[in-house]
Amino acid sequence: MDPERMATAGVNTVRMAEFAWDCMEPRRGEFDFSLFDTAIERLGAAGIDTILCVPTAAPPRWLTQGHDEWMRVDANGNRMAHGSRQHCCTNHPGFRAESERITEAMARHFGSNPHVVGWQTDNELFCHIAACFCGACTDRFRLWLRDKYGTIAALNGAWGTRFWAQTYDSFDQILLPIPDRPTHANPSQVLDHARFLSDSIGEFQRGQTKIVRAAQPRWWITHNGTFDHIDYWKFSEDLDFLGVDVYPGFVAHEADKHSWTALKCEEARSVSGTFIVPEQQAGAGGQRPYLHPTPPPGQMRLWAWQSIAHGADGVLHFRWRTCRFGAEIYWNGILDHDNIPRRRYDEFAQEGAELRRIGSRILGTSVLVKAAVLSDFEQDEAYLTMHMGLPSPSDQRNLAYKELLERHLPVGIVNASDCFDGVECLIIPSFVMMDEDLAARLGQFVENGGVLFATARTATRDRNNHVISKTPPGLLSELFGVSVEEFGKLSEPLLTLGNDIPAGAGYEILLPATASVVARWNETADGSPHAAPGQAAITVNRAGKGAAIYAGTYLSEENCAALIDALLSYIPLAPLARAGKLTEVTCRRGTNCRLVFALNHEPRETTIMGLPGGMDLLSGKACEGTISLPGYGVAVIEVGEEFLRRYL
Ligand code: GAL
Repeated sequence: MDPERMATAGVNTVRMAEFAWDCMEPRRGEFDFSLFDTAIERLGAAGIDTILCVPTAAPPRWLTQGHDEWMRVDANGNRMAHGSRQHCCTNHPGFRAESERITEAMARHFGSNPHVVGWQTDNELFCHIAACFCGACTDRFRLWLRDKYGTIAALNGAWGTRFWAQTYDSFDQILLPIPDRPTHANPSQVLDHARFLSDSIGEFQRGQTKIVRAAQPRWWITHNGTFDHIDYWKFSEDLDFLGVDVYPGFVAHEADKHSWTALKCEEARSVSGTFIVPEQQAGAGGQRPYLHPTPPPGQMRLWAWQSIAHGADGVLHFRWRTCRFGAEIYWNGILDHDNIPRRRYDEFAQEGAELRRIGSRILGTSVLVKAAVLSDFEQDEAYLTMHMGLPSPSDQRNLAYKELLERHLPVGIVNASDCFDGVECLIIPSFVMMDEDLAARLGQFVENGGVLFATARTATRDRNNHVISKTPPGLLSELFGVSVEEFGKLSEPLLTLGNDIPAGAGYEILLPATASVVARWNETADGSPHAAPGQAAITVNRAGKGAAIYAGTYLSEENCAALIDALLSYIPLAPLARAGKLTEVTCRRGTNCRLVFALNHEPRETTIMGLPGGMDLLSGKACEGTISLPGYGVAVIEVGEEFLRRYL
């Protein structure tokens, strides 16, 4: 009955087997794929393709028994126990061999199955814990360091081991950095450890992708991210595209849900252009300590459309039927425990019918991005090594993104390793580390007419995480035409940008060289004395055809709108529409198709103005510039070519 019900709801692809190792291999070397053969066959007969997952997130008991050394170890030395998931160490050679063995067996068995179209590696790598402190991880870390530095002298230099007498004589002496034992670890070592975590999980994944690719070249491969301590830019080199699991239910405040979810999708889009959502929330999620608020009618469908509006080319809901046993018995699927289709099924079927109808118009288009916030794994990790309670690059990225999204501008995330073509303004959220290559590309961006906006502490360290000896912003001083005279933290500093604006935690006193002053420091709100009053706080430097704005402070809830106003005064981007903050408007365009997505995240009707004329493909009604959307309503308006001229 399931395949027919799915087909009726418009399903064309399912994903399965991510935790089914014990089912496919009940005893070592004894394989039984019959359950999946039958299911794939029946689904295929109903016109539904299958994505198979490598089940390594749930190693069976026969595999862990007698292999305590394969279990992950936390920073306190506690070994993970069997009875949950993700309990094995992905760096242990023994477990890696097992991972490759089950991948090989599955790939060989399903290699000629015409209904299997793609694969997912493991499942949400690092979703519970990233770092493992077992002996195998120590060994692998040492090898990784040897590979990176070649000589121990080079490592000592790169880590600045003279500080606190940490000099090493050989790679074999090096340990994994255990946080706060007894106090702060070496920040260069911690950064390298984060790079190692990312590289080694990529290596684990590569063990699977190589086998899957060799078995059947027509298969595509993805993974469902995104989690901390993985550089998805590098990690996705082994994938055809990245996947991202989208659970807006985790966001506590309604006002933040839309931007959080949009950003989640953007993380994947910025890595692989288009992406899929292997797990899209299918109702309230419940785990032992919590239960999400129930999505009201229409919200689940809205969230699915939101993923598509931000670049998803496939959306699979998690899960089909709510499970009656195990740790996720209250994680709602499309069907309830009693298998009776209710309103979630009806809403899902509506979504399915809509996608069947207009999906082919969407495929082949990609999201229009004109204003972008830069992201870079290394900068996030460098921040964590020495955060000092100041705003992080990701805090600032989220604020800037939300602000631009709520102004209905074509905003996105751009990876620092990507090219910046087509983007008109670029925000650097306190990227402490700078190198010649990135500095040159940013310079070129401004030279070509782009507007760059950086916040405090940008370009103050090198890639070893050492503070540079050159006055900040070091390699970018010329581009910004400014130097930083003093940096610190004040209680409630104010800067004058038209009005007095609370600047948040940090301040820098700027000395303009070729730049002009946009804002100056004022007194603090509580009148406490400091050296900054009257000194430059924000500057702008005209360079080439563009401009480089340096803000000697951090983006905060309080100042974000004013700082974004300042930025946009140098690059007046046209909004995609005029609407309330909880209405999202995005654009996906391809060679022959331009689609404007309008999404109402509020429970009540809203009016959107200033839209381009076109046809709402969902309602079949013409749009003449203004539309009303019901609560949680969606429109997908196909617009004419002239619309994009605004953004050329
Ligand atoms: C995801 C995970 C699924 C399931 C779901 C609900 O993070 O990939 O296996 O656990 O969350 O909790």
